[in-house]
Amino acid sequence: MAASADVVSPALPAILKKSPEPALDTQLIPKERYLSPEVMRLEWERMWGRVWLYAGPLTDLSEVGDYFTFEIGPESVLVVRTAPGQVRAMYNVCQHRGRRLRPEGGGFANSFRCPYHLWRYDLDGRLISAPDGATDFPQGDPAACGVRIPQVRCEVFAGLVFVNFDAGAPALWEYLTRDVIEHLEPYRWAAEFRVNLDWTVEWPCNWKIGVDSFNEIYHLQGIHPELMDMSDDTPAGCPIDFYGRHSRILYRVGVPGPRWDDEMARGRGYRDANQITAGTRMILKAYGLEEKPQWEGRVKDLRPVLIKAARERAARNGIDVSGLVDDQLLDDFHYFLFPNITLNISAHHFWLFRHRPHPRDPEQMLWDFQQFVRVRPGQDAPPRPPHQHYVLGDGHEANYPHIALAQDEAQSADLQRGMRSAGFKGLYLAHQERRIRYFHQVLNDCLAQP
Ligand code: FES
Ligand SMILES: [Fe+2]
Repeated sequence: MAASADVVSPALPAILKKSPEPALDTQLIPKERYLSPEVMRLEWERMWGRVWLYAGPLTDLSEVGDYFTFEIGPESVLVVRTAPGQVRAMYNVCQHRGRRLRPEGGGFANSFRCPYHLWRYDLDGRLISAPDGATDFPQGDPAACGVRIPQVRCEVFAGLVFVNFDAGAPALWEYLTRDVIEHLEPYRWAAEFRVNLDWTVEWPCNWKIGVDSFNEIYHLQGIHPELMDMSDDTPAGCPIDFYGRHSRILYRVGVPGPRWDDEMARGRGYRDANQITAGTRMILKAYGLEEKPQWEGRVKDLRPVLIKAARERAARNGIDVSGLVDDQLLDDFHYFLFPNITLNISAHHFWLFRHRPHPRDPEQMLWDFQQFVRVRPGQDAPPRPPHQHYVLGDGHEANYPHIALAQDEAQSADLQRGMRSAGFKGLYLAHQERRIRYFHQVLNDCLAQP
């Protein structure tokens, strides 16, 4: 059964243990940080350049020579498989006159040749040749002078490639924290998960509105009413934890929570709150269980039934979930990795949202959505889908794998509009929204470091 946020038992699996609560103030979060070019500049100088940033999936770099670009703020990084056991990153810029070496995207290369004057680099970024190099450069042949594209730090965890512009930053494992690493490893992402959806959507808001939107479930009643009959969104039911700069909420899925009372149930056409709901029935079907008459009258007792069914389904499909606790088979284990990654994790798939700032405009952002699905050993992986780029309102919303994501992104424009109003000073946050407060506090700490 679900662990309560307030109960700490020595028998509780490590992944469910309550973390210490950070000290947090209660001030408004000033709205200027969602609007100001000066804050945007400071974020670039003091935060983006010093933290580990998710660049892309390792499965896109399976062969030596495979590469992809990672665009962040004004920078573009080339991430390259340079050897069978090695992935490296470098600035995506030619050392001759500064042309961007590769357009946004990915592909395969034996070497990187700049299209402008044809300087050619090896996969490590070392200049191999420059036309007229030996005869027309008074400073000596550039290829013989050790010209090399500056490297960017690059490390991999769980099949996710991260980069860091700061040569002096702590290692990725230290940045992510031992807790987060131990929580994520048993999912076997590196071995068994593949991308099967890859989108970028331009949202008309600051990137922190993207982060904030997924750091609380207080908005469930407001914009996701159809989730009320199949999940618990209450602060008491959904514990929040903090790990280093990062945070997590356990969003309880499968059966309705305490907000689902007789009155709400009748409002949706049910006899009372005990009747099996459409949402729960959907989950029963997904686990190969049809609605059974003996469950009528006790919908809220179905959680252990669903967990047992989930484990049995995994066994039938040859999927190893032995490293996962019961809660991980049903609930959304929802992590935020500072500064800009949201993870919605279940045993069979996970969603990765990446909130990127616009290169120039603090009131625009790029919202990236990658869905990863589990492919059992020996099974053919789904084809890697091409990356799709959308703009809010262009009709892509209908293709989301869950309506809640369209509902979330639909808020972005109105949130940013509100920030511009003289009638609004800043965010007035509830305790259950403290992951937002913590995120802003960690960001403040970064911005305070010269
Ligand atoms: S700018 Fe790249 S070769 Fe001249
Ligand atoms: Fe939402």
